[in-house]
Amino acid sequence: MRTYVALSTLLLLASPLLFTTPHAAYAQRPNSTVRTASGQDGEAFVNSLLGKMTLEEKIGQMSQVALNTKLDTPADEMARKGQVGSFLFLTDAAEINRLQHVAVDQSRLHIPLLFGFDVIHGFRTIYPVPLAMAASWDPAVAERAQSMAAKEASATGVQWTFAPMVDIARDPRWGRIMEGAGEDPFLGSRMAEAQVRGFQGDSLGAQDHILACVKHFAGYGAASGGRDYEESNISDEQLWNVYFPPFEAAIHAGAGSLMSAYMDLNGVPATGNRYLLHDVLRDDWKFQGMVVSDWESVMNLTTHGFSRDAGDAAARAVNAGVDMEMTSHTFRDGLPAALHQGLVTQATLDAAVRQILLTKYRMGLFRNPYVDVSKTASQMVTPEQREAARQAATRAAVLLRNEGNLLPLSKQYKSIALIGSLADSKADIMGSWSLAGHPSDSVTVLEGLKKRFSPGTQVEYTKGVEIEREQTSIFDEQFSSPKPTLKTDAERDAEFHHAIDLVRQSDVAVLVLGELQSMSGERASRSSLDLPGKQEELLEAAVATGKPIVLVLLNARPLDITWASQHVAAILEAWYPGTEGGDAIADLLSGDANPGGKLPVAWPRSVGQIPINYARNLTQIPNDPDTRYWDGSSAPLYPFGYGLSYSSFSMTNLHLASNSVHAGSKLEVSVDLQNTSSRDGDEVVQLYTHQRAGSASRPVRELKGFRRVTLKAGEKRTVTLALDTHDLGFWSPQTHHLSMEPGAFDLWVGHDSSASDHASFTLLP
Ligand code: NOJ
Repeated sequence: MRTYVALSTLLLLASPLLFTTPHAAYAQRPNSTVRTASGQDGEAFVNSLLGKMTLEEKIGQMSQVALNTKLDTPADEMARKGQVGSFLFLTDAAEINRLQHVAVDQSRLHIPLLFGFDVIHGFRTIYPVPLAMAASWDPAVAERAQSMAAKEASATGVQWTFAPMVDIARDPRWGRIMEGAGEDPFLGSRMAEAQVRGFQGDSLGAQDHILACVKHFAGYGAASGGRDYEESNISDEQLWNVYFPPFEAAIHAGAGSLMSAYMDLNGVPATGNRYLLHDVLRDDWKFQGMVVSDWESVMNLTTHGFSRDAGDAAARAVNAGVDMEMTSHTFRDGLPAALHQGLVTQATLDAAVRQILLTKYRMGLFRNPYVDVSKTASQMVTPEQREAARQAATRAAVLLRNEGNLLPLSKQYKSIALIGSLADSKADIMGSWSLAGHPSDSVTVLEGLKKRFSPGTQVEYTKGVEIEREQTSIFDEQFSSPKPTLKTDAERDAEFHHAIDLVRQSDVAVLVLGELQSMSGERASRSSLDLPGKQEELLEAAVATGKPIVLVLLNARPLDITWASQHVAAILEAWYPGTEGGDAIADLLSGDANPGGKLPVAWPRSVGQIPINYARNLTQIPNDPDTRYWDGSSAPLYPFGYGLSYSSFSMTNLHLASNSVHAGSKLEVSVDLQNTSSRDGDEVVQLYTHQRAGSASRPVRELKGFRRVTLKAGEKRTVTLALDTHDLGFWSPQTHHLSMEPGAFDLWVGHDSSASDHASFTLLP
C-alpha cells in the first residue's frame, strides 16, 4: 500500500518553507485520456457483451497467444472457441485476415482479435533505434518515425505495438538501454509522448495508426548489475522522480495500453505488484487503458518464489491489475479454480475483460477488424519511408570528436579505406528489434559511401576483423548477422594486415566499429564495454599508420572508447541507424548533412564508472569530483547532452523574464544563439535547474527544457524556452508527496549538461 502520510502529519513534518497540498502541482494536470476515433466510449456495448460471456470466453479474451511458440491447441480452434483475445507475432496480412474471419464469423460472440507485434523502431522500414532517436533531441523525429512505422504495420494488419519502451536506463551494460531514451526523465518523457502520438495518431482507431503499449512498468532499466531480468531495487524517491515520469507522460499523451515488467521491484514482482498497477497507475494517474503482462511474466510469479502455483499466480496478477496475459497459460489453467476458491472475485475478472473489450471497441475493431490486403505491398519501404528513415538517421548521429575539422571529408581526399565488417552488414545496421525488417532493404555504409563518393573518390573496402557473439541470441532464428568467414588464425592475421596496408595506401580511413545488432537488446547485457573482438587493436594499428582516421560507431550503448577519444581524429556515433543508415552516414561524412545530435546518456570512460548519470546529488567536497576514485577520473568521458557539429555556436545574453515565478505558471528563459560558422547547422539549447534547499536534497542539475534549432551560417536568433514550474515539482522522501517547494533555484543554459551560463530565480507559492 502507498505510504502517503495524512496532510496534518505532513504539515508538522514539513519545513516552514514547504508549500504543499497533496499533489499540489500534479492535481492540475489532465488525467489520462484515451481518446477514441468513434467519439463514444462503448461502455454500454461492452457491458452488454460481457453479460453474454461464459467464463471460458472471458478468460479467452484475457489470453494472448504467441504464434512463434509451440501451441497445444491450433490457432484456428482457439479463435473459433473464443479462447484467445490476441495473437502475437503474425505479420502476414492474408493470414491475419483469415484468423480474424475465424474469430468474427465463427466464434459464438464474434469478438475480433487484436494482433500485436513489436514495432520498436520501424516495421519493414527500420528507423534508428530508440536510444538514437532520443539522441536527436527532437521529439518530432521520434513522432514521425513511429507514425511511419504504424503506417506499415497497420497496412499488414498489425494493430498493436509493444512500444514505446520508456524505461530509464543508467547502466550501459544493460542490453536494453537501446530501446529507451537513455538516462533522463525529462528527455525520456518528451520522447515517450512523441512516440505515443506517432503510433496512435490523434485518437485510438485513427486510420494508419496502431495501439501503443508503454512498457515495462516499472523499473526494468535498473536491473541489478545491468544483468537483464535481475531484480531492481529503487527507492521511492527515485521511482517517482526518475523512473515513473516517462510512464506518466506517455499515459497523459493517451497511451492505450501498458505492459508490466518482468522483474522484482523492491521485492515484489512487477507483474503482481498492485501498488504499481493499481495504486499508481489507476488511482493516481487515472489510466483508462489495458494492461498486458510481459512474456510469461504471470507464470514467472511462481518462479520468483512469489506465488504458489498457476492459480495463485493468475489471481495475484489479476488482483494487481493485469488484464491480459502474454504467452503463458496461467489464466487459462488457473483462473477458474482461483475464482472458485475466492482468490479472485468475478467483479475483478470482469473489470479486466471490460478493459480489453473497451480497447477493441475504441480501436474500432467491432466495426472493421480487417486489413485491406490489396494495399499491403504498396505501403512497404516507400520512397517516403526511406526519406523519413534517412532524415531520422542523420538527425540522430552524434559527433563526439573532430580534431582539425577532419569531418566533413575534404574533396581533396581521392581514396578512402573503409574498414570493419559492420560497414558491409545489411542486418547489423538495422539494430536489434527489427523483426519485420528485411536486411535486403538496407543500405550499408559501403554502399552509401560508394554511391556518394565514387567515382571522384575511390572507396576501397575490407573487413579487417570479424566479430561474433559467442553466446546465442534469442533472436538468432528471426534475424542474424553474417557469419564469420575467416576460419584460421593465419587467415585472420592476413586480413588484419591487409586492412592496415589499405589504410596506408589511402588518403583517409573510415573505420566502422562497434557491436553486432545481437550484442544489444533483450538478453544482451555485457560485463565490459570494450569494442568486441580485435577491433580496438585494429583501430590502434590504423592510427599508428599516421593516416587521418575517422571512427564511425554502430552500436546502441556507450562503449569504452577512451583511447580513441585521445588518438582518433574524428568520432561519429551513428548508433544503429536503420534501413537508410548507409546513405545517412554518407550524408554526414560528406557534409551533405551536419551532425546535431546530443548524447541521451553520459558516456563513461570505463565500465567501473557506472552509474555516471549527470543528475546526482551534491555532497562532500562537491567541487572536486575528480578525486572520487584514486585510480582514475570520476568525470564521464562525454557528459550527458554532449555533441559537436561542423558548425560552431555561441550562446549569450541569458535572460529570465522575471526573477521569480509562481508555482503553476511558466517562466520564460531566453538566450541569443548564434551560428558563428560559415556552415548551416543545428544546436540544442538545453536548460537545467537545481533547487537550492527544500524538504529533500535535489540533484545538482536536472534537464527542464530543450530545443533543437537550425541556424543558417552566421545567423543569430533569440531562443526562448518556457520553463514549466510543474516540472520543478518532485516527490519528496520526507513528505511522501509530489509538490513544488517554494525557494531559490539555480538555472543554467548551454550546449550540454556542463552548461555554465547561470542565473537564478525564486519559486513563489
Ligand atoms: C518480451 C519483452 O520483454 C517485451 O518487451 C516484448 O514486447 C515481448 N517479449 C513481446 O515480444
